[in-house]
Amino acid sequence: MYVGVDYYPEHWPKTRWATDAKLMKAAGFNVVRLAEFAWVKMEPEEGRFDFRWLDEALSVLHKQGISAILGTPTAAMPAWVARKYPETLAMQLDGQRITWGVRKNNCFSAGAYRLLSQRITKAMAQHFAANPAVIGWQTDNEFGSPQCYCDNCKGTWQDWLKAKYGSLDEVNRAWGTHFWGHKVQTWGEIHMPADMHAHNPSLCLDWKRFWSWQNVRFQHDQTVILRRECPRHFITHNLMGFAPDVNYFDLSADLDHASWDNYPSLGGAEAYDPAASADLMRGVKGKNFWIMEQTAGPHGWGSYTRNPRPGEMRKQFFQQVGHGADGFLWFRWRSCTVGREQYWHGLLGHDGKAFRRYREAAQTAKDFHKVGKELAGTTVKAEAAMFYDYDSVWAFDIQPAYNGWNFFGANASANRYQEAVKRYHRALFRAGVNVDLVRPGQDLSGYKLVLAPHQYVMPDPLAQQLSDYVRQGGVLLCDSRTGVKDATGLCHERTLPGLLSRAFGIRIEEYEALHEGVSYATQSKTSGLPGAYQAVQTCDWITPEKAETLLAYKDWHLKGLAAVTQNKFGRGQGFYVGANFQEDAFYDHLVAGLLKAARIQPLVVPPAGVEATARQGANGTLLFLINHTEEPKAVKVPAGKVDLLTGKKTAATLQLGIYGVAILKI
Ligand code: GLA
Ligand code: ZN
Repeated sequence: MYVGVDYYPEHWPKTRWATDAKLMKAAGFNVVRLAEFAWVKMEPEEGRFDFRWLDEALSVLHKQGISAILGTPTAAMPAWVARKYPETLAMQLDGQRITWGVRKNNCFSAGAYRLLSQRITKAMAQHFAANPAVIGWQTDNEFGSPQCYCDNCKGTWQDWLKAKYGSLDEVNRAWGTHFWGHKVQTWGEIHMPADMHAHNPSLCLDWKRFWSWQNVRFQHDQTVILRRECPRHFITHNLMGFAPDVNYFDLSADLDHASWDNYPSLGGAEAYDPAASADLMRGVKGKNFWIMEQTAGPHGWGSYTRNPRPGEMRKQFFQQVGHGADGFLWFRWRSCTVGREQYWHGLLGHDGKAFRRYREAAQTAKDFHKVGKELAGTTVKAEAAMFYDYDSVWAFDIQPAYNGWNFFGANASANRYQEAVKRYHRALFRAGVNVDLVRPGQDLSGYKLVLAPHQYVMPDPLAQQLSDYVRQGGVLLCDSRTGVKDATGLCHERTLPGLLSRAFGIRIEEYEALHEGVSYATQSKTSGLPGAYQAVQTCDWITPEKAETLLAYKDWHLKGLAAVTQNKFGRGQGFYVGANFQEDAFYDHLVAGLLKAARIQPLVVPPAGVEATARQGANGTLLFLINHTEEPKAVKVPAGKVDLLTGKKTAATLQLGIYGVAILKI
């Protein structure tokens, strides 16, 4: 079990390093991440490398038993790179290159940048391969922005399309370029879309895929070198939860495990988002992950957040452990006195003194080591899976469908797909049920329940797989906008929900979006959905064929049509939700019904504000209970179980204090 901090020895005089290392050791830390923005310090001029300072820092740390993850430094290019090779700076839509001097400002297809990236990666890898302190690598930093519109990217985009489609006829067919006379007759005529809300949506979808691929290819250049030179080290990258730009399933294929940077907006109610992100971060590799950065104090580039309160950092830590984190670093060790991140506070303040946040981190590390043995080899084993589909994320960015007003969709802020995933995921979170976020197309046979909300892009084989899943006994939930588009973003020529019509026993002849302020009242037809919920935003006019109506609309013009249905198909069941609903209660009731149909029983039913997750291994189950609130909570738990943090046995009710954490061995 690794726990530690992101450390920037280059920000401090050497005379301070030993003090830092000793304080880290005293806190129980055994890992740091180093060097990920230190390119110019390692390669002060092209081809001349200087790793002495890093050797020294590593040896100071290693003396205290601290290991290191090294970052390849390519997320912030030295000034000399920009000066010698101006084409390495990304070009913005207006044709201006980004002004050097922030970070993440490179073009991913510039040959010079790729070669320079490979060279520094190779020099580092060869130099540090045998260093006993080094255990792994982080590629670059937070892949994603900026998009580049230079001629080189344009050529690479055209090449990418050629490799994907083979011929222009195929491109024209895949994009439906007979619309508005957009037929392309030479590869050179293919442009880069300037406006995601006005250009051809199929072209835009491919552009987003291409953009993601550019990042993946750039990382691949580095991982090939790291694997060859440092076969004993792991390779990871610091992902960003639900950040939409890069397909993290693809990016993680080259990694040993995923890591992510968790900056929860501080405040009791905001406990949910990091839980959802953690499930995705576990999902991208289908295994445990690391936290590479996590809030260690008030943070911001200009103004900053409130301070984590006593116990808050600790409970954020164990929330991630409960979702599968095996390694954990706080960002950052000490608040920097210089630069744009002066107020992105560390465990230590500008004064370098070990105060409360340091002490809390040390206590947390101690707790982590205490449960380390029990945690080793365990992971979250979910019986429910939820799809997470980048194609649908992107397709909804391009055409938000509803609530994006005006109707060009240009004002859409949040992503409809991500919101849909979170609506259901959040209800599962409240119910204390673990869920895996998985890539569509993956094997589903291990799951009793699959939720695929807003699965807008639905290639036929995927619809077939879902239909078979139900037929063979699975419980499936889909909702509005399901199965509208094929793999290249063309609308299917079928009555919705297309190939899933039989699994759901319904047909949808018409549908609509509801403007803000417009809603439809509904009427319950089952005790399972006892409320009168308001349908908002999106509305399918569902005709039940074989399905039972669980909820009907009340409005005169929707008589006889269903809002929510349930259908027996083969050995399984299909639930279809034709609208978004205003009330959390709707999702809670629905999820209760889904769990019942799928015969899934949570270990405990947590009270509001308490999260329950479980990790399992050969030696049993570890139940994590986390109080995300600032008031004490009582949780009904199995009695006579040991709380690994206190060593005490449980009674039938467990008391959790403010931000309290318990880990019960079941
Ligand atoms: C990101 C980066 C870090 C740091 C923080 C704060 O998560 O990975 O290097 O810059 O943001 O801005
Ligand atoms: Zn470019």
